[in-house]
Amino acid sequence: MAVIDAPHVFLIFGNGWIATQIKELLLAKKVTVITSQVRTEDREQVLSELSYHKPTRVINCAGVRGLPNADWCEDHKVETVRSNILGVLNLVDCCFELGIHITHVGSACIYDNDPVHCPDGKAFTEDDEPFYAGSWYSRSRLISEKTIRHYPNLLLLRIRAPIAADLNPNNLITKLLNYKKLVNLPASGSVLPNLLPGAILLAENGVTGIYNLISPQPFTNNEIMELIKKYIRPSQSWENFELDDMHKVLKAPRCHPVFDTTKLVSKLKELGYEVKDTHEALEDLFIDMKAEGY
Ligand SMILES: NC(=O)c1ccc[n+]([C@@H]2O[C@H](COP(=O)([O-])OP(=O)(O)OC[C@H]3O[C@@H](n4cnc5c(N)ncnc54)[C@H](OP(=O)(O)O)[C@@H]3O)[C@@H](O)[C@H]2O)c1
Repeated sequence: MAVIDAPHVFLIFGNGWIATQIKELLLAKKVTVITSQVRTEDREQVLSELSYHKPTRVINCAGVRGLPNADWCEDHKVETVRSNILGVLNLVDCCFELGIHITHVGSACIYDNDPVHCPDGKAFTEDDEPFYAGSWYSRSRLISEKTIRHYPNLLLLRIRAPIAADLNPNNLITKLLNYKKLVNLPASGSVLPNLLPGAILLAENGVTGIYNLISPQPFTNNEIMELIKKYIRPSQSWENFELDDMHKVLKAPRCHPVFDTTKLVSKLKELGYEVKDTHEALEDLFIDMKAEGY
């Protein structure tokens, strides 16, 4: 008798920008998706939610990243710890107890360039030990990753500077449009419309471990501004400043790491999915934005 696999039931924690994009992709695939309203740090409620919905896949998009930017976390340290450390650990551990695969959307801002790792040198792989704790946000992500990374039921996806075809306040495009001056350093980022379908494939296939959910080539803020000008804001202008000047107007420093994506690209190729080169993914995204009237 042929064995037919039951379709997955996805339970998503977090109901923000990235959760909404993942939910839309899952709904388009006609997969059952439930969005939880439970706080991730509440163990009893998380366990009861998991027992009630019996998901085969959990996706954690809950967390704080600060608005308008990560400086918020400097003034909200306890809220940051509760969501980004306690909540993440609790959710991963509850899933472990119940034998459920969980995908955690984490952050890649847990590295910074050094003399060896830089745009003209080596890129950080998943095997490099993360270390960057320059801001409270990065510190929370660093502690969380180091705490959960050995759970066998976990797929940990690191994203950085996410970009999608909208003007959500979390989108790098919106942030760049709102900043008075921009630094112009090459760094890695996540072009979500190309990467999130791959993330879902990894989850569906029960892949575990750490992956840099990052587009392959680094880019600069000026490259994004040029695309903004080319496709959606022809009269856009901007000014650059140096990293030292940027640090003077921020509460906490930022990192500009460059990542290796070989592991992600080859795993997704195995699963029949192509990670686009960054420039191609960005052009496609801005073409969509223009078509949608942004
Ligand atoms: N966007 C970025 O720049 C970026 C970059 C790297 C990584 N990430 C990570 O990716 C994840 C999703 O980002 P996003 O841009 O979608 O953020 P978002 O739009 O701010 O959404 C975050 C969601 O998490 C919920 N949340 C926060 N703490 C929670 C908790 N303890 N329990 C349950 N829900 C909680 C929020 O709900 P409430 O508003 O009700 O609290 C909100 O629905 C976050 O963890 C973020 O740190 C984001």
